[in-house]
Amino acid sequence: MKIAGKEMRTIWVESDGAGIGTIDQTLLPHRFATARLTTLDDAVRAIKTMQVRGAPLIGATAAYGVWLALRSDASDENLERAYGALLAARPTAINLQWALDQMLAAVRNRPRAERVAAALRRAGEIAEEDVRINQAIGRHGLKLIEEIAARKKGERVNVLTHCNAGWLATVDWGTATAPIYMAHDKGLPVHVFADETRPRNQGASLTAWELGHHGVPHTVIPDNTGGHLMQHGLVDLVIVGTDRVTAQGDVCNKIGTYLKALAAHDNKVPFYVALPSPTIDFSVSDGLTEIPIEQRSPDEVATMTGKTKDGRIETVQIIPDGSAVANYGFDVTPARLVTGLITERGVIGANRAALAETYPERAENRDKIAS
Ligand code: MRU
Repeated sequence: MKIAGKEMRTIWVESDGAGIGTIDQTLLPHRFATARLTTLDDAVRAIKTMQVRGAPLIGATAAYGVWLALRSDASDENLERAYGALLAARPTAINLQWALDQMLAAVRNRPRAERVAAALRRAGEIAEEDVRINQAIGRHGLKLIEEIAARKKGERVNVLTHCNAGWLATVDWGTATAPIYMAHDKGLPVHVFADETRPRNQGASLTAWELGHHGVPHTVIPDNTGGHLMQHGLVDLVIVGTDRVTAQGDVCNKIGTYLKALAAHDNKVPFYVALPSPTIDFSVSDGLTEIPIEQRSPDEVATMTGKTKDGRIETVQIIPDGSAVANYGFDVTPARLVTGLITERGVIGANRAALAETYPERAENRDKIAS
């Protein structure tokens, strides 16, 4: 994606080779600043504080985090320590564990002297792979938008999305946004309703910011608006991202996704989930009981941060002193509410057979481990 006319990714090895560059997403949309990560602790902190966020980007950051850790000490003990610290940084997105397992496999059986180079190489491959996967997701999802555009004969196609499953959440392109960017680049009249996504407002702050930079027409809506829009025929399709999809096709994503799926189902609006294969967790089936749901600080609900009229960034409290707060980060949409999964291998049903048929090597591997 281009930021201020310059092609950029969300994570890169710094030109002096001394660390990793990322975008500090906690400052957007009001300030664009990059952050340099040079140690394992930096990587863990960046993931925990959501300077970097979004399932695929968390995975890529963790992969580079292993490289950063091994640079100071390439021992087995330090590898284990890095794996544990990064894994504990955020519990719900399975891409984190996937990336760490990939890193472990790439370095564990090598002599110490080779580990740092091997880690950097594998982390780079994970990042590149993410870009390729998202491009493929984009091409498959584009067909869905093209079909609707053809049916609507040039009228705008309205896509509703929740949270940020965009460029910022991945290494490039995004998952839910890849079909949107491709449709827009092809000249299709695509317009996005971006749910604000309380409490951290990833839709209002991040999705709106990146769509704006790419020139995609969009409208930010309060989280409660989607159902009303769907009842009035104002949404042609929903595309969301996900942090974990189970073997039976249940979809875990940012809190509030389930309510959008219910509204879409009631109004016969197609509800698609865009995902890269590292987001599939073949080791779990029932999303409702088997996926750990992150609970974050009450402060995220109790306060809001924004720009004042004179340009200062302020955080204010929006609830009474002493009120209790619940802050569940994610929810689970049962497979029956999902019209289809947009994967890098095509658009498939959200069910066990389709997932196993599309990713036989992953599903079989899982069966082998289980038996
Ligand atoms: O808490 P976040 O901002 O990391 O949550 C992000 C989401 O829920 C995204 O939809 C998901 O990670 C998919 S990103 C391609």
